[in-house]
Amino acid sequence: MNVKLENRVQHYRTVWMEGDVVRMIDQPKIPHSFEILELHDYKETGMAIRNMNIRGAGAIGATAGYAMAQAVLHAPKDDYGKLVGYVEEAAGYIRSMRPTAQNLFYAVDKVLDAVYGADNPEAAVISAIKTAQGIADEDADSCKRIGEHGEKLIKDGYRILTHCNAGWLAFVDYGSALSPIYVADEKGKKVFVYADETRPRLQGARLTAWELGQQGIEHKIIADNVSGWIMQLGMVDMVIVGSDRIAANGDVANKIGTYEKAVLAKENRIPFYVAAPTSTIDLDSKSGKDIPIEERDEDEVLYVRGYCNSTGKMEKVRVSPKDSHALNLAFDVTPAKYIKGIITEKGIIKPNKKSIAKLFK
Ligand code: MRU
Repeated sequence: MNVKLENRVQHYRTVWMEGDVVRMIDQPKIPHSFEILELHDYKETGMAIRNMNIRGAGAIGATAGYAMAQAVLHAPKDDYGKLVGYVEEAAGYIRSMRPTAQNLFYAVDKVLDAVYGADNPEAAVISAIKTAQGIADEDADSCKRIGEHGEKLIKDGYRILTHCNAGWLAFVDYGSALSPIYVADEKGKKVFVYADETRPRLQGARLTAWELGQQGIEHKIIADNVSGWIMQLGMVDMVIVGSDRIAANGDVANKIGTYEKAVLAKENRIPFYVAAPTSTIDLDSKSGKDIPIEERDEDEVLYVRGYCNSTGKMEKVRVSPKDSHALNLAFDVTPAKYIKGIITEKGIIKPNKKSIAKLFK
């Protein structure tokens, strides 16, 4: 998407690779500064996933694909067997970076299959780079299509609630939940967005608000506990969220707090949609119970990070008693019964086993 910098507008993807260097927009710096991070090997790129310099299912997937390509580029080239051993070790490392986003595993497996399909080191390098690039391009293309399908659900004047950030920063380009909103805006529909702030890492208050501002979409950030009340007051026409992993039965894992928005939406008869590319669907997870839920460092809850006007720097401030501990679960699962539809690049489907299986035929 286009980013408005001080005196110019430039198109950026969230993550890309040049030679053997992976470059990405450094997300913890947004909205206070716009910086590009450079990662020189698969270990550095993997740590950027773990530390959430890049986050969001599609962006994590593309980054994992590039990290695998870096591993293949740096693997020993004198013997194909040695190369495969090196790349398999890298695959294990990259897989261990974050557990919930299906796109990470999708990308690692795709590049690994490309390496297995080659029979010599040179062919493995060419195939791995092509596959990693293909994963990133496919992600951007799928999100563009999600926008075109999802836009049809949005009526002029709609007030839409979203949770976390499932915009272009969470993918290679366009986004999932925000993509239909961007297309609706392009088509001249008036859209207003309520962005849940999304404690503890505030992806809504920082990233979604920044993206919407860049796109010129009217919005307000709301504290996470406001949504139920504004739904009851009739101030929300529709909810669209993204997903990190969708089970074969239509249960959806997404940022912690999504489940309660879905229950509240149903209670208030507001349509609740999930937008995600098919690379987020995991047929091996029969239901949401099979989806691993990430638990992150308690400090993310015990402290808040933000830009300090007086020092001009990002600062970390403790908000809770010194001796208190926190439970920091990063995702939850919304049962399929709360979801009106899943917006994919192949169309809008019902969240059930039959419709999901059909996507892969
Ligand atoms: O922890 P994050 O920021 O990687 O989680 C991302 C989300 O859960 C978003 O809600 C998003 O909808 C799913 S990824 C596009």
